Amino acid sequence: MKIRSQQPNDENAIAKLFHKVFSDSEGEQEGKLIGQLATEMIATTEAQDLYGFVAIEEVQIVGAIFFSRLTFETENNVFILSPVAVDTEHQSQGIGQSLIRHGLAELKNQGVRFAITYGDPAFYSKVGFHSIATTELAPPYSLSQPEGWLGQSLTDDPIGMIPGHSVCVKALDNPVYW
Ligand SMILES: CC(C)(COP(=O)(O)OP(=O)(O)OC[C@H]1O[C@@H](n2cnc3c(N)ncnc32)[C@H](O)[C@@H]1OP(=O)(O)O)[C@@H](O)C(=O)NCCC(=O)NCCS
Repeated sequence: MKIRSQQPNDENAIAKLFHKVFSDSEGEQEGKLIGQLATEMIATTEAQDLYGFVAIEEVQIVGAIFFSRLTFETENNVFILSPVAVDTEHQSQGIGQSLIRHGLAELKNQGVRFAITYGDPAFYSKVGFHSIATTELAPPYSLSQPEGWLGQSLTDDPIGMIPGHSVCVKALDNPVYW
């Protein structure tokens, strides 16, 4: 398995991957929604606000992950991991955690201070995320599952209070994802 940065001609394969994986795990409607999210993320996000990586087995894209910028009034060096998917037939082989670790290392190399995500703490705690308070670091929308608001520092500084509200990229700017 090889991991590399997402390239423009990966777009269709990535959209299909998210559609299939989320249809398999959460139903066709969710599959369609997250497939569209991936397409929109690639199409509408400025290059400096997005990191995308794919996992490749032979010639097939079997995993994909995006990190996009979360901007606060006083801090813009924060990225949120969303979405990530590993092909259903390739899950539970360590690909998801490898993709996340690869992405976090790249963000760290680029000087990103904090990585955030919104998901299952049992899974994301395996790759260094811990619960954060929404009062400490405000999500762009109020969360239906605040226990899933997670973060980690990519420097020696712990995640502290970041004042004010946050703004996500356009693709995530929809209450349906929160
Ligand atoms: C979540 C996901 C990206 C993990 O990728 P993966 O390659 O299967 O994960 P890894 O092999 O690195 O790690 C597997 C371990 O993580 C944990 N894990 C995996 N998916 C989990 C989930 N949805 N909830 C909780 N824990 C999970 C399990 O402990 C699992 O260990 P096991 O295989 O021994 O049961 C992948 O399963 C997936 O695409 N799922 C459907 C889409 C999704 O839920 N995406 C995340 C939300 S955006």
